[in-house]
Amino acid sequence: MKGHLLSTEDLSRDDALLVLDTAERMARVAEASVRKLPTLRGRTVVNLFFEDSTRTRTSFEVAAKRLSADVINFSARGSSVSKGESLKDTAQTLEAMGADAVVCRHSASGAPHRLATWVRGSVVNAGDGTHEHPTQALLDAFTMRRRLGRVDGLAVTIVGDVLHSRVARSNVWLLATLGASVTVVAPPTLLPIGVSSWPVEVSYDLDAVLPKTDVVMMLRVQRERMSAAFFPTEREYSRRYGLDVDRAATLPEHALVMHPGPMVRGMEIASRVADSDRSTVVEQVANGVSVRMAVLYLLLGGSGEVS
Ligand code: NCD
Repeated sequence: MKGHLLSTEDLSRDDALLVLDTAERMARVAEASVRKLPTLRGRTVVNLFFEDSTRTRTSFEVAAKRLSADVINFSARGSSVSKGESLKDTAQTLEAMGADAVVCRHSASGAPHRLATWVRGSVVNAGDGTHEHPTQALLDAFTMRRRLGRVDGLAVTIVGDVLHSRVARSNVWLLATLGASVTVVAPPTLLPIGVSSWPVEVSYDLDAVLPKTDVVMMLRVQRERMSAAFFPTEREYSRRYGLDVDRAATLPEHALVMHPGPMVRGMEIASRVADSDRSTVVEQVANGVSVRMAVLYLLLGGSGEVS
């Protein structure tokens, strides 16, 4: 894998599988007593976050450190310069500091793509606006494969605020590439206009879909990206699209419940479901480190064998 990781839409099946297989080897490092590899010693990874993040930023930081890279956390929030300019100025600063990889999160869709034209290092998209969040989709696929043994042929249901979700978009493309069948379930107001051109089925009836689902992925309602009312009340949303205990009981025995976090407990997911055995929420966070180690290792051409 060479260059950048900007989206899953243009990620080949071979590269996606290479990331998942490499992440498997990285996970063994995480389980070993010495959790550090010398592979990226002397390399610099810059975390450039223009938007809030808890798990993604720390996950990239842990991943880079486990590979012995130097990490610079550049929290660019609150800059008074207009977005385009500040991004370019920042890119030039990073370039001067000799960043080998820039991990970028930005509220504007396409920002990491622009950045990739300005810096010599590899750019990893850590979430751009409502567009994509490729490492999240890769860690989700990795989690499915670890728990259920495969991704190919799985029935995956993605539920909730699809309109504003970069997690949903990245998952739709990657899961299609890996051979899963995806159904999206959402109120009509929270589906994008272009959904008919996506490789998915659309349903408005969660109860009809759940019994045929291997993996249900719940999405957070992204109020910070909403400029209008997209549904009548939280209660109404929760009643129709929330995964409560009774609904979760209609899933097949082996089915998984996933959520990228942050969860709004009681809104899109009941606490008892989020904390149940079939929930992979905490595993997803752990797997995120392995997947991000794999991505940094492959993009920066780390030296030496991984376990
Ligand atoms: C998601 C994001 O920021 O896109 N969270 C994450 O990366 N774990 C989803 C969300 O904010 O709801």
